[in-house]
Amino acid sequence: MPQVRVNGNMLYYREIGEGPAALFVHGFPLDHGVWLDQMRGLAHVRRCIAPDLRGFGRSDPVVDQTLTMEMLADDLIQVVEALRIGPVDLVALSMGGYVALALLELRPDLVRSVALVATRAGADGVEARAGRDAMAARILDGGRASLADELMQVLLGRDPTRLAQARLRSMVESTRYETLLGAIEGMKERRDRRTVLGRITVPAAVIAGDEDRLISLDEIRELAAGIPGARLVIVPGSGHLVPIEHPEPVSQALLELFQGRKVVWPR
Ligand code: MLT
Repeated sequence: MPQVRVNGNMLYYREIGEGPAALFVHGFPLDHGVWLDQMRGLAHVRRCIAPDLRGFGRSDPVVDQTLTMEMLADDLIQVVEALRIGPVDLVALSMGGYVALALLELRPDLVRSVALVATRAGADGVEARAGRDAMAARILDGGRASLADELMQVLLGRDPTRLAQARLRSMVESTRYETLLGAIEGMKERRDRRTVLGRITVPAAVIAGDEDRLISLDEIRELAAGIPGARLVIVPGSGHLVPIEHPEPVSQALLELFQGRKVVWPR
């Protein structure tokens, strides 16, 4: 099982393909599995690496720990350095996008291109922070199955495939309670990183579904407008989890992003 020890924790990662590295960062409460289609679709042009973030999936468990975006970003920086894969094409979904922006703030030199999928750069407002606390309480009261029921209504579009529903449910139900609570707290405390956007100098794409119930299209457009030269790709009929709801257009957008710049291969 491919693993790398960073910052005292063993992180699992899935790897497929050859070429320059692309690093795929999952959202909440998911794992590397949300990227399986894109990894398979891009393995002919990239060495695709998708870690399970600290506490998630098959990575080491955490106990009583706020999973801050800076901590998760530093873990990824250590992964890139330990595997000697930088600079990478950074592909990040939702919470993964919060982590990606923290990484770009800390180590822009490690990133060759960036794709931000269904995410935002701002911090939580008062209402959103209260919503995080309420979600944490509901998880403790109702358990992961009820969280999965809830997220099926929020994270998917109006007419999701049965497979997308099953994949979402299995990822939510297999995320540890400690991780759920730690990540909710970390997202709640995350910093506003809108100023990072204007400093992105590498090729960039912003990808989202037009039925995203979590992040409005206005927020998505604002995110894209903030990044110099970013391409905006809106996928019709998809909710928030566009990589599993409509895998093909996401892979296609990533391929175009990757091929839009000259890659020296082999490096
Ligand atoms: C995610 O999809 O990663 C999270 O739901 C994002 C969030 O709750 O802000």
